[in-house]
Amino acid sequence: MTAPRLPFDRPSADRRRILVLGGTTEGYALAEALVAADRWDPVSSLAGRTATPRPPAGTLRVGGFGGPEGLARYLTAEGIAAVIDATHPFASRMGWNAATACAATGVPLLRLERPRWVPGDGDAWTLVPDWEAAVTALRTLGARRVLLAIGRQEVAPFAGLEAVWMLIRSVQAPDPMPPFAQAEVLLARGPFTQEDEAALLRDRRIDTIVCKNSGGVTDAKLAAARSLGVRVVMRDRPTRPDTATAATVAEALAWVARSETA
Ligand SMILES: NC(=O)c1ccc[n+]([C@@H]2O[C@H](COP(=O)([O-])OP(=O)(O)OC[C@H]3O[C@@H](n4cnc5c(N)ncnc54)[C@H](OP(=O)(O)O)[C@@H]3O)[C@@H](O)[C@H]2O)c1
Repeated sequence: MTAPRLPFDRPSADRRRILVLGGTTEGYALAEALVAADRWDPVSSLAGRTATPRPPAGTLRVGGFGGPEGLARYLTAEGIAAVIDATHPFASRMGWNAATACAATGVPLLRLERPRWVPGDGDAWTLVPDWEAAVTALRTLGARRVLLAIGRQEVAPFAGLEAVWMLIRSVQAPDPMPPFAQAEVLLARGPFTQEDEAALLRDRRIDTIVCKNSGGVTDAKLAAARSLGVRVVMRDRPTRPDTATAATVAEALAWVARSETA
């Protein structure tokens, strides 16, 4: 006599394979929710920027696909039933590649993206489309002491501002360090509290913060800037393809369920 098969015993071949383009908190949360729903087989894809990434729930694959053509080949070869682009709002190339590959193969695509931050009462934001415009904005605003909260890889365009003292906050130090006239590197990993952020802004006499509109939960540095009257130069998100979009993991799960019957 064979034992009755429990739902979680279902062989993975019975389950639709869902490709989650990840590298974000949302990507991890979605993979977990797909596994927990016990109907789907998520494959999380990471670009491979982190040497030892946290393993997601379900299957993990690492590394680029080789452009939209490579991704289209992957979707077909792996029998992917749907793709969810949960990459970071500033990882737009992957978003465009996913749109092209999904259009070519007929695989449904959803964008899972955290809402952007929007300025409220008391905020003094200058919105810029790129770092070149941010440098111009700092000159126009007459900034003197700046917190660069943009990670370590994109700080070079700011090195030309010789009259500005820069506090570069990042998880790892810029390497190589661009030739800043006046700068200090502060190694720190968030999340930070509003109190800590306010203390940092006060202690270092920061007059302007430069950051990008990553979005998500309320940001402590933006709240601290508002309370202290510190200006913010905010890089806006890059344009992404026009696709179905979900703002939460629950919405994404509902879309996956609907795409099964479509
Ligand atoms: N940019 C940010 O501020 C930021 C912040 C936090 C996390 N991340 C994460 O870091 C990753 C790389 O960011 P990026 O700004 O370099 O991206 P990007 O500019 O959009 O992508 C560059 C190339 O990296 C590969 N790639 C990107 N995401 C991938 C993924 N999830 N799985 C497999 N390959 C991927 C693709 O290579 P092929 O063309 O060869 O397929 C893509 O063409 C993203 O997955 C993103 O979610 C980015």
